[in-house]
Amino acid sequence: MSGSVELVWPNKGLPLHASGATSYTWVQPDDAALRNPLRVETFGSALRSTSNVLAVGDGFDALEILRDTNVLSDGIRAVYIDPPFNTQKTFNHYGDSLATPMWLSMMRDRLAALRPLLREDASVWLHLDDSEVHRARVVMDEVFGEAAFVASVVWQKRTTRDSRAAFSSNHDTILVYAPSGPRTWKLSRNLLAKDEALLRNRDDDPRGPWSDAPFTAPGYRKAQQYDIVTPSGSIVQPPRGRSWYATEKTYLDLLAEDRIWFPKGGAGMPRIKLFAHQLRGLVPFTVWGSADVGTNDDAKRHLLELFPDRPVFDTPKPEELLERIIHVASNPGELVVDLFAGSGTTAATAHKMRRRWVTVERNTQTVLDFTLPRLQRVVNGEDRGGITGQVAWTGGGSFEVLHVTPRFGTLAGVHRPSVLGKWLKGSAFGTKENQARTA
Ligand SMILES: C[S@@+](CC[C@H](N)C(=O)[O-])C[C@H]1O[C@@H](n2cnc3c(N)ncnc32)[C@H](O)[C@@H]1O
Repeated sequence: MSGSVELVWPNKGLPLHASGATSYTWVQPDDAALRNPLRVETFGSALRSTSNVLAVGDGFDALEILRDTNVLSDGIRAVYIDPPFNTQKTFNHYGDSLATPMWLSMMRDRLAALRPLLREDASVWLHLDDSEVHRARVVMDEVFGEAAFVASVVWQKRTTRDSRAAFSSNHDTILVYAPSGPRTWKLSRNLLAKDEALLRNRDDDPRGPWSDAPFTAPGYRKAQQYDIVTPSGSIVQPPRGRSWYATEKTYLDLLAEDRIWFPKGGAGMPRIKLFAHQLRGLVPFTVWGSADVGTNDDAKRHLLELFPDRPVFDTPKPEELLERIIHVASNPGELVVDLFAGSGTTAATAHKMRRRWVTVERNTQTVLDFTLPRLQRVVNGEDRGGITGQVAWTGGGSFEVLHVTPRFGTLAGVHRPSVLGKWLKGSAFGTKENQARTA
């Protein structure tokens, strides 16, 4: 932590471990159980550097297993995590009411475990609401350094109003950190696709439709101050405190190439024509509207289409939101990691976008009801929702499933790996079958 500012909380210095199927326990650093190896069962073939992995278990434990395998050998390019926000509510599929010190240690430990596994050009996106975001940002400063802060993205998660609340909260916050710092990370992140709909052909230019921008630049530059005669015959100068965009010679060349546009029937100030290939992509804004990246309800509708026979998962995120994050933060073939899978949105979106992925979900019932069957449908080309059309996804690829048993506490019911194994054997999921599809 830089300077003298630090967030302190009870038991901050103690290891915190997943215990049983749903809880955590503080452990003394010399607890002998910490030296026991974790128990892992793999329901598929050996893990390779190209494997996608659905791990069933705690995210921290799964990283301990995976960091010694080939899966992480090329490093992680992007992390998106959407943990329980600590809203003090109980959802259908998971509890969300830890004491704040425990929630902070839980997050700090997972972020710190991810840190050495990141590539130089990696970024970490932590999705939260107002319950803990203010404290989480300080924790991220502590793990990655204040200089690693890139942005705090506001996502408009709903469009309906809650009339019972003091304020109808309709946003979440996604904290974006890049260990290399924003200036370096900016060089390797992707810009958003420009909006081709803004291109129009207002003068039947044979080169095709175009957009336009003012032919001016900020500041006073002597070589870029000259008279321009508009087609309507008036003489114009750059506005006060600005210059023309280029020198007079370049301006005359552009004019001869029909690259200068005078609006208002030839009486307006000159503008430069920009064809599709000349437009840079767009730097992402920090406010992301639901019209662009969807809402929680959009995500629920997609899940209901996939699984009409079961109560919908409470807090899914839309694939369009993940598409934007994964697009900005990674390229095809690179590894995207999510330690709180839920219904599997990150992995499903990453798969359709041809990224490699690792995702971890602790609740076996959630895996059986949503994560696993959803990912199977993606692989089999049977999911027509989300971003399928946008990225022309038709199926393919494969993934491995592994189960990590926590060191502390006992497992009950469906949380036992044998239950998962039994289900996998009896289901349509067949690793060999899926491997064949990849080949
Ligand atoms: C907010 S939901 C994630 C939703 C997900 N982004 C989606 O679109 O469906 C959080 C998920 O994290 C899981 N979870 C909670 N603690 C965990 C842990 N320690 N390790 C792995 N998963 C955990 C919960 O069971 C829950 O399914």
